[in-house]
Amino acid sequence: MGKNMQIDKMWDTYLAVLEKHIPKVAGFPYDSDDHELLDEQAKRHYIKYNVIDIPSRCSPIISALKKYRKVENLKGLSLLDLACGDGAMAAYIYFKESLDLACGLELDNFRITVFNEARKALAPSHLYAVKGDANSLPFPPCSFDIISMIDFIHFAQIDLGKLLVEAHRVLKPSGTILIHTAHRLYPIHQPTWIFGLNYLPNKIARIYAAYKKVLPRFLNTKINSPFTIKRLITEAGFKKVVCFNSHGQRGIDVYMHSHIIVLARK
Ligand SMILES: C[S@@+](CC[C@H](N)C(=O)[O-])C[C@H]1O[C@@H](n2cnc3c(N)ncnc32)[C@H](O)[C@@H]1O
Repeated sequence: MGKNMQIDKMWDTYLAVLEKHIPKVAGFPYDSDDHELLDEQAKRHYIKYNVIDIPSRCSPIISALKKYRKVENLKGLSLLDLACGDGAMAAYIYFKESLDLACGLELDNFRITVFNEARKALAPSHLYAVKGDANSLPFPPCSFDIISMIDFIHFAQIDLGKLLVEAHRVLKPSGTILIHTAHRLYPIHQPTWIFGLNYLPNKIARIYAAYKKVLPRFLNTKINSPFTIKRLITEAGFKKVVCFNSHGQRGIDVYMHSHIIVLARK
């Protein structure tokens, strides 16, 4: 099957798997303030972000990877996507760039189930879904050419320093790490979209967020400054840390966007 046909089949497969699962999931944590069943609007939003928007979300990431590695394509490389959600980004990059192997790791049961079902229906040779915690990676040293963390570190309760040391361990020599994340310099706090929260001291930010009825899981997440992220990457042993904006470009305005893409090599 050609590359484009595989990608078309991918969307149909994901839509079918999500249609099958979403209405049945109680306590589904995304886009639902009351943690109850998703309503139709939230479900449409979820499908848009996790299926329909995948090519446009992947495009700056693929572009930044190619620029950083100074290559025309990513053919034949292996990718580990940490906190891969439903795995659609890993699957898309796998087909689009003709990767040799892509593996997604995800903690959430619902999301890894969706990935696994979609993956089996797509029947690719080297696309894997692993349920696990990114803080402790179940892979031997020097396993992957690329490790990505996309919209993960500002959403999760993680020890970023420890996670980066683990990523360094499982990355192949000269392999690339890529982090796409929100950062503290941007005035709107992600993922709550509250203006100014990033600039308040932690204690006051929490009181304000509680007053604004921010979900507790968001109060426990940490939005780092780009400088902290770069420092932790360097301390984990990575070299040549470079920052791109959320359009996959370098330049003076990198930190003026809500998200940054940070790359480094082992
Ligand atoms: C905002 S989603 C991003 C998903 C995907 N990377 C994307 O960009 O579409 C954050 C994901 O991180 C996962 N996650 C949170 N903590 C994790 C951990 N310790 N290990 C693995 N996954 C985790 C959540 O379950 C969720 O799927």
